[in-house]
Amino acid sequence: MKTSRFWKCGADVAAALLVCFILCAGCPNTSNSPDGTTSKSVVVIGYNDLGMHCMNQDFSELMILPPFNTLHAQVIERGGEAPRLLASGVTVSYSIASNTTSRDKTNFWTYVEPLMGVQLAPDIGLAGKGLSGHMDPTGENDWFARGIPITPLEDDGSENPYPLATITVERDAVAVADTMAVVPISWEINCDLCHATEGISVATDILRKHDARFGTALENSKPVLCAGCHGDPALGLDGEADVSSLSHAMHGSHASRMEGAGIDNMCYACHPGQRTQCLRDVHFSAGMTCTDCHISMEAVAEASRRPWVDLPRCDGCHGRENWSFEQADTLYRNSVGHGNVHCEACHGSPHAILPTTDPADNVQSVQLQGHSGPIDTCTVCHTSTPDEGFFHHSGGEGD
Ligand code: HEC
Ligand code: HEC
Ligand code: HEC
Ligand code: HEC
Ligand code: HEC
Ligand code: HEC
Ligand code: HEC
Repeated sequence: MKTSRFWKCGADVAAALLVCFILCAGCPNTSNSPDGTTSKSVVVIGYNDLGMHCMNQDFSELMILPPFNTLHAQVIERGGEAPRLLASGVTVSYSIASNTTSRDKTNFWTYVEPLMGVQLAPDIGLAGKGLSGHMDPTGENDWFARGIPITPLEDDGSENPYPLATITVERDAVAVADTMAVVPISWEINCDLCHATEGISVATDILRKHDARFGTALENSKPVLCAGCHGDPALGLDGEADVSSLSHAMHGSHASRMEGAGIDNMCYACHPGQRTQCLRDVHFSAGMTCTDCHISMEAVAEASRRPWVDLPRCDGCHGRENWSFEQADTLYRNSVGHGNVHCEACHGSPHAILPTTDPADNVQSVQLQGHSGPIDTCTVCHTSTPDEGFFHHSGGEGD
C-alpha cells in the first residue's frame, strides 16, 4: 500500500514537473534554470497552515473534524533594491488538478446543517471557499484560502493524502508566477482499531460507550457534533462550560488504553496514521517521533495545557548565535523570519519541515531553486546574491 502510493506520487510529481517545464519553456518571463537563477519578476511560494488536516469520512453519526484545509501563499516582487512582499495589486488563485470535487466522496453536505446549523452548497467549505478559486490577503503579508473542503480521494478513485495545488498569480490579467504546494488531508482516524464491535458501526460503538459511561443520549441524537459539548479551538467552538475540551477528554481517557491498539506509534492509533505517515520531515529522517516533541498522551491531556495553543516550539530545541526563531507567544505557523517572509514559506508546514520523505512536499523547492530542503537560495527572491550575510530574524537588516 505504502510502496504503491509513493510510487504513484513520484510519478505524479514527475509528470507535474514535466508539465511545468514544458509550460515554462514557452514563456520567457517565467523561466527557471535549475541552479536557482530566474528571470521572473514575481515569485510565489505556497504552504499549508498545518502539515496534516484530519477529517471524518462519514458524518451520518458523528463529527470530530470537517473537511477544512487552509492554503497560504506569499507573493514576492524581485525587482528593485530589495524583494518586496505583495499584499495587493495582484490576483492569486488556486486549483487542485487531481482532486476537483468532494460532494461525491463524503456525505458532509448532507449532514452539515443538522451538525453545525449552516447550509452549504455542495463542494463549498465552512468558510465559503471551494476546491478552486481566489485567495484573499490575510493582512500579514500573505494570501490565503481558508477551509478548502478537500478529501483524500482523488478524482481517479485512489487515496492520496498529499495532493498538489497549483497557485497562480496574475497582474493585469497576465500570469506572472505560479507554484505547487501540498494540501495535506487524511481521514485515517482509526478509531476502528479498538471500537470495532460486531453488528454495529464504529461510530455507534463510540456513542453507546459514551452514553453508558456518562448517561448521555448521543446514540439517539445522531449526527453528533463532539465539539457541541467539548470545546474545540480547531473549530472555534467553546463547548459547554463544565465539560472538558475534546483534546483533554480524548487524550486523558485513552492514555491508559493504548496497549489495545497493537501498533508501535500509539499516536497513529488516531492521528494519520499507519498509512498516511503524517510525520515525514527532517525530524522523522533524523529518527525522531511524536513523543520527542509532544512528550506523551498524559502531557497532551495535562489540565493546565491549552489545546491548539500550547504546542512545541522550534526554539525549544534549536538555538543559534544571532539567530532568532518564532515571535514570542506566536505559533510557528503564524511566525515570520527573514524580511517578514513566513517561516512556513521557507521551511514548510509543521511535521513537513523540508526536506520531507514525501516527494510531493519537495516539488516546490526543487522547482524554485533546483534542490529540495528549505528555501536557502538568495536569488529565489533577490535579483542577485546580496553581499551582506544572511539574517534569519524578521524585518529588514539590523532589526
Ligand atoms: C487503543 C484503543 C482505542 C482507540 C484507538 C480508540 N479508543 Fe475509544 N475507547 C477505548 C476503550 C478501551 C474504551 C473504554 C471501553 C469501555 O468502557 O468498555 C474507549 C471508550 C471511548 C469513549 C467513551 C468515553 C470514555 O472515554 O470512556 C469514547 C467517546 C471514545 N472511546 C472515542 C474514541 C474515538 C473518537 C476514537 C478515534 C479517534 C477512539 N475512541 C479510539 C479504546 C480505544
Ligand atoms: C451532550 C454533550 C456531549 C456530547 C455531544 C459529547 N460529549 Fe463527551 N462527554 C460529555 C460529558 C458531560 C462528559 C463527562 C464530563 C467531562 O469529561 O467533562 C463526557 C466525557 C467524554 C470523554 C471521557 C473524558 C474523560 O476524562 O474520561 C470522552 C473521551 C468523550 N466525552 C468524547 C466524546 C466524543 C468523541 C464525542 C463526539 C462523538 C462526544 N464526547 C460528544 C458530554 C458530551
Ligand atoms: C484515542 C485517540 C487519540 C490518540 C491515541 C491520540 N490522539 Fe491526539 N487527538 C485526538 C483527537 C480526536 C484530536 C482532535 C481534537 C480537536 O479537534 O480538538 C487530537 C488532537 C491532538 C492535538 C491538537 C490539540 C491540542 O491539544 O493541542 C495534539 C497536539 C495531539 N492530538 C497530539 C497527540 C499525540 C502526540 C499523541 C500520541 C502521544 C496523540 N495525540 C494520540 C485523538 C487522539
Ligand atoms: C520535531 C517536533 C515534532 C514532532 C516530532 C511532532 N510534532 Fe506535532 N507539533 C510540533 C509543533 C512545533 C507543532 C505546532 C506547530 C505550529 O506552531 O503551528 C505541532 C502541532 C501538532 C498538532 C496540532 C496541529 C498542528 O499541526 O499544528 C498535532 C495534532 C500534532 N502536532 C500531532 C503530532 C503527531 C501525531 C506526531 C507524530 C506523528 C507529531 N505531532 C510529531 C512539533 C512536533
Ligand atoms: C524536540 C526538539 C526539536 C523541536 C521542537 C524542533 N526540532 Fe528541528 N531538529 C531537532 C533535531 C534533534 C534535529 C536533527 C539534528 C541533527 O540531525 O543534527 C533537528 C533538525 C532540524 C532541521 C535540519 C537542519 C538542522 O539544523 O539539523 C531543521 C531545518 C529543523 N530541525 C527545523 C525545525 C523547525 C522549523 C521546528 C519547529 C517547527 C523544529 N525544528 C522543532 C530537534 C527539534
Ligand atoms: C528566507 C527563508 C527563511 C525563513 C523566512 C526562515 N528560515 Fe529558518 N532557516 C533558513 C535557512 C536557509 C536555514 C539554514 C538551514 C541549514 O543550516 O541547512 C534555516 C534554519 C532554521 C533552523 C535550524 C537552525 C539550526 O541551526 O539549528 C530552524 C529551527 C529554523 N530555521 C526555524 C525558522 C523559524 C521558526 C522561522 C520563522 C520565525 C524561520 N526559520 C524562517 C531559512 C529561512
Ligand atoms: C524567500 C525570499 C527570500 C530569500 C530566499 C532571501 N531573501 Fe533576503 N530578503 C527577502 C525580503 C522579502 C527582504 C525584505 C526587504 C525589505 O525589508 O523590504 C529581504 C531583505 C534582505 C536584506 C536586506 C535588504 C537588502 O536587500 O539589502 C539582505 C541583506 C538579505 N535579504 C540577504 C539575503 C541573503 C544573503 C539571502 C540568501 C542566503 C537571502 N536574503 C534570501 C526575501 C528573501
